Amino acid sequence: MRQKVEITIDGKIVELPVLEAAAGRNVVDVRGLIAEGIYTFDPGFLSTASCESRITYIDGEAGVLTYRGYPIEQLAEESSFLEVCYLLLEGELPSETQLSSFVQDISARMPIDDQFKHIFDGFTEKAHPMSMLCAAIAGLASLYHDDLDIKNAAHRRESAMQLIAKTPTLAAMTYRKSIGAKFIEPDPELGYAENFLNMCFGEPGKPSSVSSTLSDAMDRIFILHADHEQNASTSTVRLAGSTEADPYAAVAAGIAALWGPSHGGANEAVLDVLNEIGDESRVQEYVDKAKDKNDPFKLMGFGHRVYKNFDPRAKVMQASCHAVLHEQGADNDPLLKMAMQLEKIAREEEYFIDRKLYPNIDFYSGITFKAMGIPTNMFTALFVLGRMPGWIAHWDEMLSAPFKIGRPRQLYLGPTKRDYVAIDRR
Ligand code: CMC
Repeated sequence: MRQKVEITIDGKIVELPVLEAAAGRNVVDVRGLIAEGIYTFDPGFLSTASCESRITYIDGEAGVLTYRGYPIEQLAEESSFLEVCYLLLEGELPSETQLSSFVQDISARMPIDDQFKHIFDGFTEKAHPMSMLCAAIAGLASLYHDDLDIKNAAHRRESAMQLIAKTPTLAAMTYRKSIGAKFIEPDPELGYAENFLNMCFGEPGKPSSVSSTLSDAMDRIFILHADHEQNASTSTVRLAGSTEADPYAAVAAGIAALWGPSHGGANEAVLDVLNEIGDESRVQEYVDKAKDKNDPFKLMGFGHRVYKNFDPRAKVMQASCHAVLHEQGADNDPLLKMAMQLEKIAREEEYFIDRKLYPNIDFYSGITFKAMGIPTNMFTALFVLGRMPGWIAHWDEMLSAPFKIGRPRQLYLGPTKRDYVAIDRR
């Protein structure tokens, strides 16, 4: 039976249709309200669906995450990042031939134009990788003038391929720049994650010596980050894209949104907090700080807007994290031991249990990256690599159907009309 919602505005009953979801909560269609002279108010979009989507489904209460219907646990266990990219973009898993030509197409687009590499000359070695990556991704539009017709599906597909292919190369270049080292070219013989790790940590002209444990863990981390429905950065990509901005600009806006410590920047912030705590003896003191209403301190890596249960990605990451710690011989690293203690205390404290604050994916990815020897300021750039296919899939989904420029309303509370007062009379 079709549901509807009735509201009364100044004595008039207004009927609002309820749109049925394939899974999860149905949605009240409030579009008719504008004709009744009223808006809805929902800061932070806690109750508002901003679009229809067929890509990713999350049930935060049950701890479920699917990409195109496939559970994240199965994809993390059995798939590869590039196959997941294909799935997110195309909606279906590829055949063997489709996957191998997709992999080749990505590999062929990984090298960066020689002149474009000079963009990094404009940065100092102190520049944050996210600052460089944001600028470089936006700058890519300057290379592809002929493929920027966002109404053309073939052009959109080409931009998607360029973005997935070039992000690891550019992200690795931001790292090489920050350590003052020569760039390393992508190697078409290497898998996506291994290529990225080799471009970061390899030696120019030498074959890759990246261990398969590390490249497999990295590939899995990318899968886990690949999409997360209408999160802040994806919504930013949609909003910027709704102005018909080119895909590189829209994605650069998403990168900027991801940078914040409440979103992708949390994996870096987790390590900052651990460094600030400094010693196992002070863990409880910081847990108490997090619980103190008068203290703005938050335990980074805990809590999630949507998951009020264990984040399914965090569960998969927890296993990968422990495998990497073991392989790297980092089980006894004091910082990492402190992280494990923090996890234990926070999961036993009433404050965290009552508020359903579980360790999130950033908690485990931050610790895993640290154990892999990746510098803290690169952590969020790794999230960019993972999230890229999700951003583009959402951008493409929006542009593939009729859409409107994103333009929220407001509840105005400022001064009402008043007359200008000349400066000598103020
Ligand atoms: N440490 C201590 N208290 C917390 C934390 C935390 N990390 N997170 C939430 N709370 C408290 C919060 O103070 C509030 O308490 P009360 O009900 O007494 O006022 C309650 O829990 C509900 O929190 P909220 O701020 O209303 O929740 P939200 O949905 O608005 O925020 C969040 C979600 C992720 C921004 C927040 O939990 C947070 O800041 N966590 C730390 C940052 C972090 O790890 N972010 C990464 C999220 S996962 C990666 C991604 O998908 O982007």
